[in-house]
Amino acid sequence: MTTVFEPIDLAGTRLANRVAMAPMTRSRAYGPGASPTPLMAEYYAQRASAGLIITEGVQPSVVGQGYPNTPGLHSREQVEAWRQVTGAVHEAGGVIFAQLMHTGRIGHPVLLPDGLAPVGASPVAASGQVFTGEGMKDFVTPVELTEEGIADTIADFAAAARNAVAAGFDGVELHGANGYLLHQFLSTNANRRTDGWGGSVAGRIRLVVEVARAAAEAIGAHRVGLRISPGNHPYNDIVEDDPEATHTALVDALDPLGLAYLHIGELADRDLTLRLRKQWSGTLILNPATPGAVTGPDALELVEDGVADIVSFGALFLANPDLPARLAAGGPFNTPDPATFYGGDERGYTDYPALGG
Ligand SMILES: Cc1cc2nc3c(=O)[nH]c(=O)nc-3n(C[C@H](O)[C@H](O)[C@H](O)COP(=O)(O)O)c2cc1C
Repeated sequence: MTTVFEPIDLAGTRLANRVAMAPMTRSRAYGPGASPTPLMAEYYAQRASAGLIITEGVQPSVVGQGYPNTPGLHSREQVEAWRQVTGAVHEAGGVIFAQLMHTGRIGHPVLLPDGLAPVGASPVAASGQVFTGEGMKDFVTPVELTEEGIADTIADFAAAARNAVAAGFDGVELHGANGYLLHQFLSTNANRRTDGWGGSVAGRIRLVVEVARAAAEAIGAHRVGLRISPGNHPYNDIVEDDPEATHTALVDALDPLGLAYLHIGELADRDLTLRLRKQWSGTLILNPATPGAVTGPDALELVEDGVADIVSFGALFLANPDLPARLAAGGPFNTPDPATFYGGDERGYTDYPALGG
């Protein structure tokens, strides 16, 4: 039986264990031009005992930013600033991938430089509101991406992947989950296109496949992972009429690329997870569905049972910098405080104590 405390080879990179830190936006990139800060380096270095750290969502382009104070990987200034984060994590023995998150229609013009507006697959606004720093605002109708806009978006992801490697990251995770741009293209309610980038399953999966291909060409498939979250979402207004057909076709198309991993943010459907697990010949990271609760120590069984190769923890890792040691000891665990999840200072960020500390 394999346990989470055994090392694993992730496409040539040795991970010390199979406990990953799930990507979590913290909105504290107060450095110039949406760049990371020394406090962010401290936060990630504290969590370097994870087998793999996946960073918060990082915008691959200016227009890909949908929340205040999220960091980017599209300028030289950002690349330089990320080096302090990757350097601190490596010094502490960790492995770190940057999650490339283009938020698409989830966002607002007030978060963007003058004249820019959120973009999307189709001019269909998400229902709901977004936090902007000027209070909550209704989502706007996004600008429909043209063929040229799609080509630019793919190029932006590839450039951000190159920037990630230049900044010292071990790889990138493409965010194809949770209702952001790539997931919007996969969905049936945000993607109403009738050209080659929508309509059929083949059309809707195409952008994700092309972005993955471009990122793999840019930095090597062994450095590229993908996160998906098949199904209908309680947030970001994502509807998939056919999650199984869409995601099985997506995994079929991606498998030959030899990516580093597939990361499933499970909503409810364990059967679909098991089906995708069978289809995917590479490493599978699972953030299991835990309705009404956060992923806890029970999730360790998923690796022992072979459901996944690696299990990722979000909120519990946020609150427990030494989570693998605590899992090995059977606890105790600090409780995450949602009031300090987004924005702010070191409180609720770097001041959660380690065991004995
Ligand atoms: C504060 C916070 C921020 C998050 N930001 C992201 C994000 O940037 N990208 C992403 O893919 N998921 C994000 N998530 C979702 C988590 O990765 C994870 O899937 C979710 O918290 C459920 O897992 P858990 O029960 O282990 O926390 C976020 C979750 C939290 C709590």
